[in-house]
Amino acid sequence: EVIEGNGAVLLPGFVDLHTHLREPGREDTETIETGSKAAALGGYTAVFAMANTDPVADNAVIVEHVARRGKEVGLVDVHPVGAVTVGLKGEKLAELGTMANSKANVKVFSDDGLCVHDPLIMRRALEYSKALGAVIAQHAEEPRLTIGAQAHEGENASRLGLQGWPAAAEESIVARDCILAKQVDAKLHVCHVSTTGTADVLRWAKARGTKVSAEVTPHHLILTDDRLSTYDPVNKVNPPLRTQADVDALRQALADGTIDCVATDHAPHAIQDKDCEWSAARPGMLGLQTALGIVVETMVKTGLLDWRGVARVMSERPAEIAGLTDQGRPIAAGEPANLVLVDPDATWTVNGAELASVAGNTPFEGMELPGAVTATILRGRVTALAGRIAE
Ligand code: DOR
Ligand code: ZN
Ligand code: ZN
Ligand code: ZN
Repeated sequence: EVIEGNGAVLLPGFVDLHTHLREPGREDTETIETGSKAAALGGYTAVFAMANTDPVADNAVIVEHVARRGKEVGLVDVHPVGAVTVGLKGEKLAELGTMANSKANVKVFSDDGLCVHDPLIMRRALEYSKALGAVIAQHAEEPRLTIGAQAHEGENASRLGLQGWPAAAEESIVARDCILAKQVDAKLHVCHVSTTGTADVLRWAKARGTKVSAEVTPHHLILTDDRLSTYDPVNKVNPPLRTQADVDALRQALADGTIDCVATDHAPHAIQDKDCEWSAARPGMLGLQTALGIVVETMVKTGLLDWRGVARVMSERPAEIAGLTDQGRPIAAGEPANLVLVDPDATWTVNGAELASVAGNTPFEGMELPGAVTATILRGRVTALAGRIAE
């Protein structure tokens, strides 16, 4: 099989450290199969499936189910993330070792959508995780500062009478967990950084030798809380869309390596959970198929990253952070590779109904994005070609 690559950019397959696949529990919004299709079409060869499923992925049975289903579908490597605590917002540490030593071989544990606010639990989690050679990915929200919060704390939220989500809710817990991680000498990964102040905390923590890494989502690189004026909850997300000054600071932090990588926080929701009043809507946005276009728009077209940098933030750094050995590294001649071929000059218009996810609502509806995935190749096998899943 010959794929014409004239003028195209060849990159290592993308790795998403932060994907919500909703299986088990909310297959009406996404399944491992539909999410895998979205991932392959978006140029991904590996995704990390977040643990806030129903039931929560806090034990070996669930993580093994997710891993097995991912293998059956076979379009992308699905790595299950284990929950840090037992149950949603649990106060008891989950058996990290059992999940790490299961067939799912869990290497990333997270409180995303779950929130560990007890520092003692977080410190123990960091200790166990270090012993297992794993990393703790934290959702970066101090829940006692976000009770009732609906949108970024600022003028836009005030005008609409929506309770604010302060930057301090993110920055304070990131600082706390950086300090704990440094003390324990464990690996911490900060999810979806959204404020200027968090980037400052990360700079400080990295300068003092903390083993901390961080991600930014595509939506926090391009959207601001000006979107609140639409009243459309398709724009509701945790952490919330911030200000243009934050967007600019996040782009700079990604360019200079303070933020290591881009992760989607792909979070599909049913239409009835988005097409409703703002305060009743669930937070979260689709991300897998629009991530590359937004990175090209915000980072490549602005000159902040070249294509080498795109490979770093979309593939190499996330692979390193999660301890993957088969992604985002130079390959030997003849070795089956994970690759994505990108047409840098193509543009396409986002149409939610055409995306592979079960959920079709996206804040990028109608937006023209640069950079199209021509082909995605998983260990030498084509998984997506010219915008279609390969049979
Ligand atoms: O917007 C979000 N959606 N943020 C989270 O932390 C959880 C996620 C979800 O699961 O829907
Ligand atoms: Zn989160
Ligand atoms: Zn998430
Ligand atoms: Zn959605």
